[in-house]
Amino acid sequence: MRRFLIETWGCQMNVHDSEKMAGILGPLGYEATADVNRADLILLNTCSVREKAAEKVFSRLGQLRGLKRLNPDLVIAVCGCVAQLEGETIFRRAPYVDLVMSTAARGAGPRAYVTVMEGCNKSCTYCIVPFTRGREVCRSAQEILAEVRDLVARGYPEIEFLGQNVNAYHHGTDELSSLLRMSDRIEGVRRLRFTTSHPGHLDHRTMDAMRDVPSVCNHLHLPAQSGSNRILRLMKRGYTRERYLQKISYLRCNVPRIAFSTDIIVGFPGETEEDFTETVSLLRDVEFDQVYAFAYSARPGTVAAGMTNALPEALKQERLQSILTIQEEIQLRRNTALVGRSFEILLDGRPPKEGPGVRGRTTCNRIVHVPADASTPNTFLTVRITRAHAHSLSGEPLLGSRAA
Ligand code: 5AD
Ligand code: SF4
Repeated sequence: MRRFLIETWGCQMNVHDSEKMAGILGPLGYEATADVNRADLILLNTCSVREKAAEKVFSRLGQLRGLKRLNPDLVIAVCGCVAQLEGETIFRRAPYVDLVMSTAARGAGPRAYVTVMEGCNKSCTYCIVPFTRGREVCRSAQEILAEVRDLVARGYPEIEFLGQNVNAYHHGTDELSSLLRMSDRIEGVRRLRFTTSHPGHLDHRTMDAMRDVPSVCNHLHLPAQSGSNRILRLMKRGYTRERYLQKISYLRCNVPRIAFSTDIIVGFPGETEEDFTETVSLLRDVEFDQVYAFAYSARPGTVAAGMTNALPEALKQERLQSILTIQEEIQLRRNTALVGRSFEILLDGRPPKEGPGVRGRTTCNRIVHVPADASTPNTFLTVRITRAHAHSLSGEPLLGSRAA
């Protein structure tokens, strides 16, 4: 067994990314360790929000250098915002670093992330976050709104509120829905998003804010984790499949063209063929627009890690593959239905993979590639969809439709 250690700096987005990376490393034969001396892979998930962030990273790398001398097989990786900003400078200044990865969802773009709360008071049995991040602590609305004003002034038209259980946000009389309503009134705020929502905590006030507040986007990330009530109980998720579906259906009725994404864990200890079939049927019932699927991996210290009926790795991988295949087909079908329609996209300045052009996102969080030299990053462009793919769309600008 190889061991990994992820050091997470900065915001909730990084915590989220680190969780995802840990989720990927588990099935690859890595287990988490808190002991830097025993790690075979050390990943610094960096943040550039604070002052002198890069210097702090280089200073940490300097400390790790000695370990690399003792163990030449040790892999040191840097990702997150500092990696994004410093890029090759990291290799130049710290040549013993093996990998530098920018974090695709972050960095320079039109979307800014604002952590509204840290920690999580839930106790999902598979999850390490309550141990690593502690109890919920919410920032005041005043502080959050000041940050939003500042970000908008610095040219970010889109703001995403972050919290592990963002629906639980409350400070004094403020809650998530009031935060959304107050932020909407700030001049220059064009799009508002929030993540991660817990299906049990998502209340009608928040759902109605999604319906009523103009800048709140018609996309919701709502991790279901499983479609089986038995597994949801074992995970201590605190909702049933039926309650989950009720919220989806309320939102579909009230928020025009809302898109949903979700997280799914396959291969939770004791997951039977029937349980798995229930998850597949949930995916078919809801038809999510995007699914992040993970093979369950035991996190030391969690309740689930002590369960004795773990599934074989091969079975987990088989179930994961089948989720991905089914979902790919669903996404392609849903995206194909959008061909011919027009959307306003917010350009993010990154070139599409295929050839010259630009890309941006719709309010429903779909990526649209526009094969034209038509853009200034962080501006809006209205496009007509010409082609659909499973994970993105292609479009063409509608002439005379530029809106800054
Ligand atoms: N095994 C697999 N996936 C996990 N996640 C969290 N903990 C685990 C685990 N032990 C997934 C969940 C969560 C996402 C961020 O990571 O689906 O929503
Ligand atoms: Fe983990 Fe559950 Fe809290 Fe999400 S809600 S961070 S899965 S304990």
